[in-house]
Amino acid sequence: MLTTLLSQAGVPCSAAANVGEALTMLEKTVFQAVISDLRMGATSGLELLREVRAHFPRLAFLMATGVDDVRVGVQAMKLGADDYLLKPFDIDVVLASLQRALERKQLEREVENYRQHLEEMVCQRTQQLQAAMTELEHSHSATLEALGSAIDLRDGPTAGHSRRVLLYSVKIAEAIGGMEDQLKTLGMGAWLHDIGKLAIPDSILLKPGALNEQERQIMERHVELGYDLVKGIPFLADAAGIILAHHERHNGSGYPRGLRGKDIPMFARIFAVVDSFDAMTSDRPFRSALPVHTARSVVDAGRGELFDPETVDAFFAVGEDAWKLISADSQTTSTHKIICGNGLTLTSARALTSQVPHLEKVAN
Ligand SMILES: [Fe+2]
Repeated sequence: MLTTLLSQAGVPCSAAANVGEALTMLEKTVFQAVISDLRMGATSGLELLREVRAHFPRLAFLMATGVDDVRVGVQAMKLGADDYLLKPFDIDVVLASLQRALERKQLEREVENYRQHLEEMVCQRTQQLQAAMTELEHSHSATLEALGSAIDLRDGPTAGHSRRVLLYSVKIAEAIGGMEDQLKTLGMGAWLHDIGKLAIPDSILLKPGALNEQERQIMERHVELGYDLVKGIPFLADAAGIILAHHERHNGSGYPRGLRGKDIPMFARIFAVVDSFDAMTSDRPFRSALPVHTARSVVDAGRGELFDPETVDAFFAVGEDAWKLISADSQTTSTHKIICGNGLTLTSARALTSQVPHLEKVAN
């Protein structure tokens, strides 16, 4: 009867005798709405409702009930029906209810489309942002590379020093632990620690003999000059503290502020050990490199005096093999690979060491 009424009202429709038949029709043909009797042959219209909601969520669904079943109609709405129709049918009421349900579904579709569009837009914007970040990191890498090259050019005899202290500082920070999120800062600070030397006159920086008192004072200013140079550059600002404090010593004998013990930033304490060790094990114009075991004894002797005890313990925990690998590698690998290998990948020690395959074994 309903099929006839709806067809007469210009609404094309088909009839199904039971739930199974209805589902088969829905799978084969595109419909916009289902009007189901509460009793569909041997099964309940509620069963059809559950199936439709599970497999055809965008279909409008109206449940037809008798006056005695109004409660069930309400229950059907709780289960996802858009409305219920009371029998006997009033075609005007049926059409109005159908119209409301279809409009509601149309609105749901528009909201869903809008949500999907938003998700696509967010995804697109995220990709653009990632591309911009990558570009920025490349730009940072190029800046660091240029600054490192400038330091090397000025301070030729110590070539490879910045690279070794970068890698070794990270190894020691790893051994101490708890600084994984800041290794990039440590790496950049170690890499640029002597950037202030760019402003030191050649006559002092490259003087073959010992410096007099006045020259020494000028030379020591490289920490503050470096700090001032770097602190205003946002992506290097965190590393500026290491540059300023890299000549501080545990017993307060360092410069520029004569800080003691834990007043010295942690990264600067690590760097002090590594910097001194690398200086001892490198050739200089006025002396040959000390053997590694001798330099290690000097570090040990400085525990609690020149050097932070915890850092010295980590230094010995890392071991001599790691140092030998870093030292040997710096003879053959360009600094560019380390500092810029995958963009600026100083975010973790693993990222650093993984760029030098045999160091990876040590890290593990
Ligand atoms: Fe220095």
